[in-house]
Amino acid sequence: MTERQSLKGHVAVITGASHGIGLALAEALAREGCDLVVAARKAASLTDAVRQLSLSKCQFNAIGCDVRSAADVQNLFDTVRKRHSRLDILINNAGVAHALAPVEELQLDAWKEVIDTNLTGTFLCTQAALPLMHAGGTIVNNLSVAALQPFEGMAAYNASKHGAMGFTNVLRQELRKKGIRVLALIPGATDTAIWDQFWPDAPRERMLSPATVAEAVVHVLTLPANATIEEIRLGPTAGVL
Ligand SMILES: NC(=O)c1ccc[n+]([C@@H]2O[C@H](COP(=O)([O-])OP(=O)(O)OC[C@H]3O[C@@H](n4cnc5c(N)ncnc54)[C@H](OP(=O)(O)O)[C@@H]3O)[C@@H](O)[C@H]2O)c1
Repeated sequence: MTERQSLKGHVAVITGASHGIGLALAEALAREGCDLVVAARKAASLTDAVRQLSLSKCQFNAIGCDVRSAADVQNLFDTVRKRHSRLDILINNAGVAHALAPVEELQLDAWKEVIDTNLTGTFLCTQAALPLMHAGGTIVNNLSVAALQPFEGMAAYNASKHGAMGFTNVLRQELRKKGIRVLALIPGATDTAIWDQFWPDAPRERMLSPATVAEAVVHVLTLPANATIEEIRLGPTAGVL
């Protein structure tokens, strides 16, 4: 049997934690005894969502933060510094998609919103988090199969996720010498509200549950400290797309 690393008392930041995969990650890490700082734009619904979780084993703070805003991101990590003085786990999860549109019709506003959230938001949070991180820490970037595979009508989403994959790969190289692990999380179709943005009638019953994605992340985070997995790739057995 390999020794499972305990996450008890580890400090974790999860962006986009009010719904879907981020909320499932908050629940799973709370169960492991992590202290959580969770973020999303709508602070009230974030606080309501996280209050429903059984958080008896951990401390938590819910912070309103738009990851597109450098000032909001700085405020988020200033809070982490004040409350905990360090950060063990960063999960860059906040993300948006967009209505299907061929490139000729894709609006600049939609392009900017998706790139600023999924790509620049990941950069801003990582840069603000790094001064608080140390050897043994882990950064998980929630990408998508869209980081590997093109989907017609999804140019901004695909570009943001391909870009975030490139960023993740460089970050892993840079942080290896510091002993900070960098994981690319690559889920296939997962049953969350993001589908309402581009395919409301998608067959949800065939998708992964957010809890399954969160379980895979916890599995990797609890591997022995000298082990690293660079990529967590999982999808529904029957496929959706
Ligand atoms: N569902 C899938 O099939 C799937 C597959 C692969 C990867 N992913 C990735 O998983 C991540 C989470 O998506 P999900 O499917 O769980 O979607 P979701 O249920 O729509 O959740 C998205 C979360 O991100 C937050 N968010 C959006 N824009 C934000 C911003 N600018 N700043 C801070 N928070 C923001 C939302 O809260 P607010 O609206 O309050 O900000 C919400 O908490 C995304 O990066 C997505 O690309 C999803």
